Amino acid sequence: MAHKMHTRKARFIFACLLVLFTASSPVVKGTYDSGSQIVRAPTTLKKTQLHFYFHDIISGNNPSSVLVAKPKGTVVEQGNINPFGTVYVFDDPITEGPSAKSKVIGNARGHYTSVSQGSDLTLLLNADFEFTSGRFNGSSISVFSRDPLVVLKEVAVVGGRGKFRMAQGFIILNAVFFNATLGDAILESKPKGTVVEQGNINPFGTVYVFDDPITEGPSAKSKVIGNARGHYTSVSQGSDLTLLLNADFEFTSGRFNGSSISVFSRDPLVVLKEVAVVGGRGKFRMAQGFIILNAVFFNATLGDAILECNATIFH
Ligand SMILES: *[C@@H]1O[C@H](CO)[C@@H](O)[C@H](O)[C@H]1NC(C)=O
Ligand SMILES: *[C@@H]1O[C@H](CO)[C@@H](O)[C@H](O)[C@H]1NC(C)=O
Ligand SMILES: *[C@@H]1O[C@H](CO)[C@@H](O)[C@H](O)[C@H]1NC(C)=O
Ligand SMILES: *[C@@H]1O[C@H](CO)[C@@H](O)[C@H](O)[C@H]1NC(C)=O
Ligand SMILES: *[C@@H]1O[C@H](CO)[C@@H](O)[C@H](O)[C@H]1NC(C)=O
Repeated sequence: MAHKMHTRKARFIFACLLVLFTASSPVVKGTYDSGSQIVRAPTTLKKTQLHFYFHDIISGNNPSSVLVAKPKGTVVEQGNINPFGTVYVFDDPITEGPSAKSKVIGNARGHYTSVSQGSDLTLLLNADFEFTSGRFNGSSISVFSRDPLVVLKEVAVVGGRGKFRMAQGFIILNAVFFNATLGDAILESKPKGTVVEQGNINPFGTVYVFDDPITEGPSAKSKVIGNARGHYTSVSQGSDLTLLLNADFEFTSGRFNGSSISVFSRDPLVVLKEVAVVGGRGKFRMAQGFIILNAVFFNATLGDAILECNATIFH
């Protein structure tokens, strides 16, 4: 490595080769149960190749990845930083080159969970990689798959936002630097002492599980047509509050009764935004699409929100 490592800093730097296929499909005007159209499947896909590095720093004074949950009684320590059941939330810089001083071109935000009970350390990776410069500024890809802790590996791209809307692809990850040693500092970096209170309801690393009603209109008294169930994790260490949304929206009436869509991407806490639909069940089996979310009511102090959703689904 060209740059100096601080002591007691465990860094994982990954060289990434990303291959994406995006469909440029016509937009279907979609409101709940207003009919479906047959759209021609795209005959061509755009293939984009990107090369970048991301830095996962789990100890030291300024970690980008913090332990937020572990099974009761499990000891997380030097040499054993990912025992089964541990969950880390991360906000990792994406750079052009392998050095931490290289130009930052985005960030990878999400969480990984240690999911193997065997000796083959394996993480389940849930992340949104957003670019903050160049022609993909503001666009992101949703990465969701197992990540075996080996040097060279592949992870799945299941969706995206912005220019990567409905993207599919894969990333070949190469750990160009890997130090599994853990400093004591990581134990201090747990958001254990984090205070969650009115006005600060989503500090980095907090996880909320939700079961929200879906209604036809903005009023809470409006007809309930389904429910959104899942969890969101606060994944930004900066001032741009951002959640990683993992949810299943199921409809309980109309012709999509019993069918659901899987939503997985970052959710910047701004009024108007886009989240990615990466799959579905029932009539939405294998769906892809996107939801334009409009916060028609949002109380940041309490964290209460009513979101207008215009979902466009290809299935
Ligand atoms: C990993 O980090 C530890 C603690 O800072 C250090 O002693 C060790 O030399 C590092 N190993 C590598 C391969 O850099
Ligand atoms: C990226 O987009 C944001 C929001 O549109 C803008 O504020 C920023 O200047 C852009 N950055 C670059 C490097 O183009
Ligand atoms: C939705 O489907 C469930 C299970 O099939 C059924 O019990 C329920 O009556 C249906 N609801 C509506 C409003 O169609
Ligand atoms: C959603 O669609 C409705 C009806 O087409 C439109 O009035 C509304 O402005 C749209 N909202 C968003 C957030 O796109
Ligand atoms: C948000 O809730 C707080 C606490 O109930 C209240 O004081 C404030 O007026 C609310 N803000 C809005 C915009 O509704």
